[in-house]
Amino acid sequence: MESMNVTVAERRQLTGQICEFTLAPVDGVKLPTFTAGAHITVETPSGAMRRYSLVNDGSDPEVYKIALKREEDGRGGSKSMHDDAVEGTELRIEAPENSFELTEANEYLLIAGGIGVTPIYAMSQQLLREDKPFKVIYCTRSEPDTAFLEEMKSTLGDRLTLHHDNGDPDEVYDFWDHFEEPKNIKVYCCGPQPLLEEIEAIAGHWPEGRVIFEDFKPVDAVRPDDTPFEVKLEKSGVTVHVPEDRSILEAIRDSGIATMSSCESGTCGTCKCRLVSGEVDHRDMVLMDEEKGDHIMICVSRAKQGDLVLDL
Ligand code: FES
Repeated sequence: MESMNVTVAERRQLTGQICEFTLAPVDGVKLPTFTAGAHITVETPSGAMRRYSLVNDGSDPEVYKIALKREEDGRGGSKSMHDDAVEGTELRIEAPENSFELTEANEYLLIAGGIGVTPIYAMSQQLLREDKPFKVIYCTRSEPDTAFLEEMKSTLGDRLTLHHDNGDPDEVYDFWDHFEEPKNIKVYCCGPQPLLEEIEAIAGHWPEGRVIFEDFKPVDAVRPDDTPFEVKLEKSGVTVHVPEDRSILEAIRDSGIATMSSCESGTCGTCKCRLVSGEVDHRDMVLMDEEKGDHIMICVSRAKQGDLVLDL
C-alpha cells in the first residue's frame, strides 16, 4: 500500500465534538486522486491506524480533508487526533481506497447518521457536480451536533431532509415510506450500527445490490462480559495481565512491549501471532479455520478460558 507523509494544514471545528482536518502533502508530493466514498488510513499520533472518509473533491486534490468525531469511549484514535494532531503535525497516511463507491443508477438516496455524514457529504457534492438526481436524509441528535450543516443546506436545498431525534429513541426518523415499495434507485447509507441494522431490516425485500452500507465499526475488541486473563510471552519471558476492558494488543503495549498492528479491528492480518498453547475465542475476520489452532489475532481475540501462551 502506497503511504505518504502529510501535515495538518488547518483544523476547523464543525461541532463541539467534530473537527475537520485539512492535510497537505509534504515536499510537494502530488496527492493521488479519489472518488466520493473513499477513505484514507491515517497513523494517528498515538500510533493507531484509523480509516477516515475523505470529504473534499478528489478529482485533482491539493489537500485531503477528513472530519472526525472525538469518541470518548473509543479506542483512542480519534482522541489522539483531536488532542495531538495540531496544525503543523506530520502524519503518515495510506493512499485513498474506495469500498463505498457510487455506481451507475437512475437516482440515488443517500442516508447519513451522525458522523456517518462524511462519505455521504462527499457523495452529495459529487452527484451535484455530475448533475445526477438524488436526495439526502441526514439524521443527527440536534442542530449543534450536525457537521456540515450550513454547507449542506445551501448546496442541497430541498434535496436535503434533516432530522434531529434529540437523543430520544421514540423520535428517530421513520424510513419505512422510502423502503415500502422497492424502487429502481440506489441507496447509500453510513451511520451508527442501529441505523444500519434498521435499514437492512426494512430493505430486506429490495433486490440485492440496491442498498449499500458503509460500516467503519470495527469488531469489538472488548465486550461487556469479557473477563481478565494472563498471556505468557514465551520469547520475552514476560507474563502480561489482560484486564477485562483491554485487548491483548493493548495490554502488551501497556506493559512497554512494542508490537505490530494496523487496523486493530481484526481485519488486516498485521497483528497475527503464533499461539503456543491455550484456548482462543477467535473474533477476527482474517484467520482461516485451519490456522485457528495455532494462531491468534491479538487486536481482537481473547482467551476463551484459562490463560494463553504466545510465541512473542
Ligand atoms: Fe489488523 Fe489485528 S491489527 S487484524
